[in-house]
Amino acid sequence: MEHAVEVREVSKMFKLYHENVRSLKEKVLFFRKRGYEEFWALRDIDLDVEKGETLGIIGANGSGKSTLLKCMTRIIYPTSGKIMTDGSIAALLELGAGFQPDLTGRENVYLNASILGFSRKEVDGKFDEIVAFAELERFIDNYVRNYSSGMYIRLGFAVAISVDPEILIVDEVLAVGDEAFQRKCLDKIDEFRDSGKTIIFVTHNVDVTREICDRVIMLEEGRIVRDGIPKEVVNHYHQVMETEEEASEQGNRKIEITEVRLLNDRGEETNDFYTGSSMKVRVCYEAREPIVDPVFGFSLDDYRGFTAFGTNTALKGLEMGTVAGDGVVEFDLKSLPMLEGRYLVSVAAHSRDEQTVYHWQDKLYQFEMKSDIDDVGLLYIPCEVKTGPQAG
Ligand SMILES: Nc1ncnc2c1ncn2[C@@H]1O[C@H](COP(=O)(O)OP(=O)(O)O)[C@@H](O)[C@H]1O
Ligand SMILES: [Mg+2]
Repeated sequence: MEHAVEVREVSKMFKLYHENVRSLKEKVLFFRKRGYEEFWALRDIDLDVEKGETLGIIGANGSGKSTLLKCMTRIIYPTSGKIMTDGSIAALLELGAGFQPDLTGRENVYLNASILGFSRKEVDGKFDEIVAFAELERFIDNYVRNYSSGMYIRLGFAVAISVDPEILIVDEVLAVGDEAFQRKCLDKIDEFRDSGKTIIFVTHNVDVTREICDRVIMLEEGRIVRDGIPKEVVNHYHQVMETEEEASEQGNRKIEITEVRLLNDRGEETNDFYTGSSMKVRVCYEAREPIVDPVFGFSLDDYRGFTAFGTNTALKGLEMGTVAGDGVVEFDLKSLPMLEGRYLVSVAAHSRDEQTVYHWQDKLYQFEMKSDIDDVGLLYIPCEVKTGPQAG
């Protein structure tokens, strides 16, 4: 195989059963009908992990990171698609996966290592090293069920690295455990990377991925939405996270904004715009009763909350008269001067005196500015450079 891991069109569906069975009689009667919903935790994932690559996977809670790792390690199987791996794998998955609570730490080390294909003798040779790395000398003969989450993780990590796998898969080790141990794990991961192993690494602490990964992918609702160099993917993640906290709606809805579309030069709806291109913000509304002299406005904010531009029908000297029923307001931006970045769109309908908000969708829409211009900054300012003994 050319790659360490190849993921081909992988989707994973979980059945979420409705918990609406009340009595035994119903249970019997509705046995066959017990309803469930399909929940797709992964959708059409295609991914090649290069040999020797350190790949980070980031994404909000529930975006499918652990599910993807579990599919790679064959703890669970995809509903469709397939995964091929080349090389021995050791995985440190979510807390608890792989440990038997009713066995001691010592017994679990042997059990785990045997699952990974090591003989008792081989483990004997590594045992002290494992326990020392986990810093569990005093607790190794206690039942694992009495371990703290930090102890769990330390032991899991120590076992996973001791078997010297070709592919190391690590899920959220840095979420628990003290800083010193986290540092130790990161150093170990570094060491692994330097010796040319493949590492697939999930963490909450996305800034760590910037430090140790060659490449990062971001998942959103089970899909890969970004795949690239760590700095850019992590920036995108931060932007999305901040955006989601901010979006809100308010107003009495006497005028309801029913649809907002962002249209490009060709009149197509899109979320990607290019420096210098045009954008139409088409706002569809429905006035539930006749409303006299409303004002419609919109603004574009960058992800830090700076307003790049905003205007409204009143500022443009437009009188809407009395509106009733369905209508459309279009803001036609002739040329977008922004360089790369994510922008948020807010749209509002309010009274001319701004005392009544009919409907205000604050930062509910977003688009991405793209650019092949190499200049840096927020805006593109056409600039010519002249040089000579005396400029001008
Ligand atoms: N065994 C399961 N049964 C039903 N739903 C599950 C199961 N495992 C995970 N999920 C759901 O799949 C989604 C993705 O979960 P997960 O991969 O753990 O996300 P992440 O690790 O990115 O936080 C979540 O909504 C989660 O509730
Ligand atoms: Mg997870």
